[in-house]
Amino acid sequence: MRRDHGGNLRELLGARDRPAGPMLDLSASINPLGASPQVIRALLAALPSITRYPDPEASALVEALSRYHDVPARHVVAGHGSTELIYLLARALAPRRALVVHPAFSEYEAALEPLGCAVERVVGRGDAGWIPPRDALLERVAQVDLVVLANPSNPTGALAPAELLEELAAACAEARVSLVVDEAFIDFVEGRSLKSTVSRRPWLGVLRSLTKFFALPGLRVGYALLGERLRERVEGWREPWSVSALAEAAGIAALADRAYRAQTLRVVPAWRAALCVGLERLGGLRVYPSVTNYLLVGIERPGLTAAALAAALLRDGIAIRSGASFPGLGPNHVRIAVPRPEDQQVLLAALAHRLEP
Ligand SMILES: Cc1ncc(COP(=O)(O)O)c(C=O)c1O
Repeated sequence: MRRDHGGNLRELLGARDRPAGPMLDLSASINPLGASPQVIRALLAALPSITRYPDPEASALVEALSRYHDVPARHVVAGHGSTELIYLLARALAPRRALVVHPAFSEYEAALEPLGCAVERVVGRGDAGWIPPRDALLERVAQVDLVVLANPSNPTGALAPAELLEELAAACAEARVSLVVDEAFIDFVEGRSLKSTVSRRPWLGVLRSLTKFFALPGLRVGYALLGERLRERVEGWREPWSVSALAEAAGIAALADRAYRAQTLRVVPAWRAALCVGLERLGGLRVYPSVTNYLLVGIERPGLTAAALAAALLRDGIAIRSGASFPGLGPNHVRIAVPRPEDQQVLLAALAHRLEP
């Protein structure tokens, strides 16, 4: 599996034929509001602290997360982005066999395969709304040591039904199989998190991130809410100081900024709906429903691939993510982050031009 990622600025800026000037980067799905001003202030105030070591366990951030989610602090582990925690869990669990629900983020398999883990896949389908196939998933749980699922899914933006999550969690608990649910994008949609169940599910891990909702990809702050047994397992594998003093201060400030949260939950769904309408009006595109800050779009123009469309838009100074490296998507899907209204006009004009027959 290729480890393509959106938001690789060095690669994007180095692309041939790219126009001079700023890039509209919609290849990584980051809150279009940008970082909260309170976070910026907290970072500036924390700058003098860089001459000292941070708290090895980022205890103040862990306490803030515990209060924010109403989950006891002993279940919370903070890290250098949720990617660090994916690798931490992989190393600590060292599963012989794992089941990954696709299409999905490439780092789950990238973390597991070097450890000798045999990774199996369950692949959803667009005509089923990208909902994980229930029977194929549940019947394989007992044959593996770990199941990994993202909810909402990236790149599809689909939210798994509550009943399916319950059934999956119950099946994993019964078979004593670890279940990791990646909720990196769940802040964009209130509810349906499994976070409150980590206290009673010893083998459940919920991954969360401050990257997406709080627009802090460069700072690297993520965390996991872990059931008791998973928490015990990761203990001996953690590195000290993986959350820097700046990241910890920013994380605490982000969680405290209720106005930013409320504004995001107000504007992102409205901007997403507007983008959906704009894309559908262009014709030849199939836009899938999404609860997140990105849209998965199927290209239904004969002869036009996702890679070709992404390359053409890059020549207009706009980066989108080709879906070709995601298992289950094939060569004709792109993922587009929801931009601000003024940037939507730029995107839609460029797309209209590039989609001309
Ligand atoms: C589903 C999902 N999980 C986790 C991550 C990693 O996020 P971070 O390491 O920045 O917290 C990403 C990043 O693209 C993602 O898409």
